[in-house]
This record gives sequence, structure tokens and C-alpha cells, in this order.
Amino acid sequence: MTNRDDMTLTSSGFYVSQEAPIRSENPIPTPSAPAPDILRCAYMELVVTDLEASRNFYVEVLGLTVTEEDDESVYLRSLEEFIHHNLVLRKGPVAAVAAFSYRVRTPEDLDKAVAFYTELGCRVERRTEGWTKGIGESVRVEDPLGFPYEFFHDVEHVERLAWRYDLYTPGALVRLDHFNQVTPDVPRAVGFMQDLGFRVTEDIQDEAGTVYAAWMRRKPTVHDTAMTGGDGPRMHHVAFSTHEKHNILAICDKLGALRMSDAIERGPGRHGVSNAFYLYLRDPDGHRVEIYTQDYYTGDPDNPVVTWDVHDNQRRDWWGNPVVPSWYTEASLVLDLDGNPKEVVARTDDSEMAVTIGADGFSYTRMGDEEKGFKLGNTL
Ligand SMILES: [Fe+2]
Repeated sequence: MTNRDDMTLTSSGFYVSQEAPIRSENPIPTPSAPAPDILRCAYMELVVTDLEASRNFYVEVLGLTVTEEDDESVYLRSLEEFIHHNLVLRKGPVAAVAAFSYRVRTPEDLDKAVAFYTELGCRVERRTEGWTKGIGESVRVEDPLGFPYEFFHDVEHVERLAWRYDLYTPGALVRLDHFNQVTPDVPRAVGFMQDLGFRVTEDIQDEAGTVYAAWMRRKPTVHDTAMTGGDGPRMHHVAFSTHEKHNILAICDKLGALRMSDAIERGPGRHGVSNAFYLYLRDPDGHRVEIYTQDYYTGDPDNPVVTWDVHDNQRRDWWGNPVVPSWYTEASLVLDLDGNPKEVVARTDDSEMAVTIGADGFSYTRMGDEEKGFKLGNTL
């Protein structure tokens, strides 16, 4: 943290401030064209190598609803969703992400998206018929950070199944909550996303000012997407919400009963960042899915920005449980608009894993402690 004087240390052990204390030394220029008005993260298009295995994981195990399907693709939605889908599984040769898709407020916002990204020199493709079933006219771009982003307004409405309690399972997924992206230079990514209209809600930094991750929102929750520092562009995870914590425990019990506990990568637990209850799973291709519930409202303009010290051992897990190394190092490839995997660029800033766990890492439970803070011993 470059200037902790501007922050207030809270009784919970993190800092709050009024303005995200992140500055980039290598910013992407701010376009003169206004950004599109983004409502929320809406769906992810995932390329999977075995459509039947993926369909089984997302439909039979996790209980997402099939809106439509054919031999090539399955279109899935959560129980409270009224738009055509929150997740597309599309059969392909390489497991990857084809689109991080956002809904915008009006059809005119598509014009704004085209102008905004064109001014940045990005590849932009607009399709009147949309890129997937159920979605109307839409714009896909290769953004300045290397991610395939999509914007749409017109979409086919389907039945919101929130009242259909006969369809609920103990682990029912009710909403798409957020994406999480891996990028080498977090401050540069955050500056760009702020130009796109996102607001930072939380971040992780160290005393020297290195930024390890940042969470950003359009809808009034903790995030629509997060930027995680690492080799990128890659997709870290896509997250669905349950109503309550016990729904997440039910998913763990079901995975155990199905002898699929090896799909559980991390958790269940309580995050420090976001205050949400969480579970991380890996799908048959290794795509990471988070099950997430009970973060907090962030919609006021003076919503306090939370900054965590990277050495605070409760930032990633409020109970102090260690983060498994694969969670830091593994992520999914992303595709360009031709369907080819984007080249992955190495992070040069310090890695969070290296500074917090392992032989040289240091974390504390109580600020000022001089001994390592893991309650269960070292993880490596
Ligand atoms: Fe997440």
C-alpha cells in the first residue's frame, strides 16, 4: 500500500478508504468515447472437450436448468434467471473461454461499445443475429487486456423458476454472480476497467504498493468480475450463487456421495474478501467454478473500498485455512475472436503465493505477530 495514511484501519483488521488506492504506471489510455452502460455479468461461453461429461457435471451434479441444447452446445441458466442462459457449454478441441458476456442497459450501448473499443485499437465484431442462441444483436471484442468480452441488450426471455420449489435441489444455484480473470498487471487492468465504468470494492496489496488482486462491480454486489494477478490473460473462475450457506454444504455432501470429492479444489469456507461463503470446484475440463453466497450490498456512491494486506492470513479464508497452490497457479485459457487460444504472458510483479506461503512466505493472523500465521502449519 503506497499510502496507508489515506486509509482507516478497521476493527476487522483491514483498511477502508473512499477511493480505490490503485495507480498504474503503465495505464491504457482513456478513450474519449463514453463507455457502454453495463448492467451486470450475464453469461460465460465455455469451450469443453467432452460435452456429455460437462453436461453431466453442470446439469446432473450442480442442477443448472437446460434452456436449450443440440449436438454442439448446451445453454444453461440458474433458477432465478429470466434471460436465455448464464452458461454456454460448447464442444471444441481445446478447453477455454470464448466469451465473458455482459448485458448493457439499452441497444444504443452497443454503439458505445463499438466506439469505445475501436478507439482503443481493439478488434471489434458486431453481429446482428448475435453470437449464441437466445441472444440478439451483440458485440464481441478482444479487449486491451487480451480477454474476449461481449456486450448485448436484446435477449430471449424465459421463465424465471424462482417459485418452482419443486425443482429446487438442496444445493440449488440461483444466480450467476461473477467472473474472475487472471492478468499479469493488476493496476493496469483496474484502470482500464474503471474507464469501462466499473468500481473497485475490495483489493489486496502489500506495503510496497504491489497489487495482487482487485474486485470490481457494476451491479451493487461486491463484484461482476475480479482481476487476479498471475500469468494471463486466463479465466480463473465463474461463480454461481446459492441462497444460503447450507446449500453449499449440501453440494459438498452430494459430491462425496457421488465419489466426486476430487472435484472439490478448495473450501468450503468463508472469504475475508467479499465476506462471502465459498466453495471452488473443477469441472471435467478443469474449468474452475465457484459456488458463492452472502456477500454484501455495495450500491451507494460512497461505498467504502476495502483494502487487505497480502500478509493477512484471513484475507482469502476468514478462518485462516490455507489456499491450495493449484488455486493460485492454474486457470483456463481464453480465446480470440477466431477461436484460437490467446498467448499467456507471465506476471513479473511478486506472486501472492510466493509472498504468503512456502519457505519464504509470511502471513500473520494478528497484525504485529512475528510468527507465521497458519493455524494448521505450513501448506508447502
Ligand atoms: Fe470468486
